[in-house]
Amino acid sequence: MADMTERGKILIVDDEKAVRTAINRRLTRAGHTCTEAADAKGLIDRIKEDQPQLVILDIKMPGRSGNELLPEIIASFPGTAVVMATAVADPNVIVECMRGGAQDYIMKPFDLEYVAQIVDKALEKRKLEQDIKEFQEGLQAEVEHQRKETQKLFLNSIESLVFALEAKDKYTAGHSRRVAYIAVAIGEKLDISGDELDNIRLGALLHDTGKIAVDHSIMNKPGRLTEDEYRHVMAHASIGAGIVKPVVNQQILDIIIHHHDFYNGKGYDQHISGDQIPLGAKIIAVADSYDAMTSDRPYRIALTGEQGVNEILRCSGTQFDPAIAQAFHQVHLSGIE
Ligand SMILES: [Fe+2]
Repeated sequence: MADMTERGKILIVDDEKAVRTAINRRLTRAGHTCTEAADAKGLIDRIKEDQPQLVILDIKMPGRSGNELLPEIIASFPGTAVVMATAVADPNVIVECMRGGAQDYIMKPFDLEYVAQIVDKALEKRKLEQDIKEFQEGLQAEVEHQRKETQKLFLNSIESLVFALEAKDKYTAGHSRRVAYIAVAIGEKLDISGDELDNIRLGALLHDTGKIAVDHSIMNKPGRLTEDEYRHVMAHASIGAGIVKPVVNQQILDIIIHHHDFYNGKGYDQHISGDQIPLGAKIIAVADSYDAMTSDRPYRIALTGEQGVNEILRCSGTQFDPAIAQAFHQVHLSGIE
């Protein structure tokens, strides 16, 4: 059995020198590398320094007892196995130690052959636990990787569908990509970064996914929409959120649902206002409106960039969040067309 076991670095903690020496000799003979400590003083630092695979920990020592030290060792060094050593045949103390994470225990006076066997067994168990942990971590990483790949593929398909839909129509070709570009520029101006900025970019790319379900002739109707037609067009926000729901997070869904909300709460079928509206949705509202205004429509020709910005600023505080309208103004001044 001994030959099958990994040879380990073992720290023997016992206040009796004779005990430490006897265990040290026996375990060294078995191929382990042993170090010794006489009490609890500086033990945590010692473990940090020596990084033993296993600690033989005497329960009864001057100063802090082994069972007092055990929780600290288990918490600080989860990869280190602990075998308790005791002369006290108190089953409660032993049970408490085993519950607290000790791998095993040995009773004094020691049978050194038995000690060697217990050490081998504890090292084997520790190795097995580590292998299982590594395997599980590897598996989790692989599952997460696959999940992200599948999500990416699905999102790419939806984006392609939106781009194809927009490309069919000269008035909307490239709209979502431009909105994403402007929204990210505004986000950066507002010091947004990381996941939040990614959500805004993706929300912008997908904000009009629901237009797949909107009647093309209504969307491009020259002239005023009837109330029913307007309701039909505006449903694209919630329909789009429903389509992408299985693969995006709640922040992106909220951005899509609220991208036509007015800052003052007076947008179509709107129940929230101001800071209740997700920041990403308010940013996309500005980027979306600017791009729509500066693109030709069947019912009007495009505004110039400057006219578009002035329109955004005119509607600051009513349709648009003033801070975002200002940030967009600055982005425009520094060069977005
Ligand atoms: Fe929209």
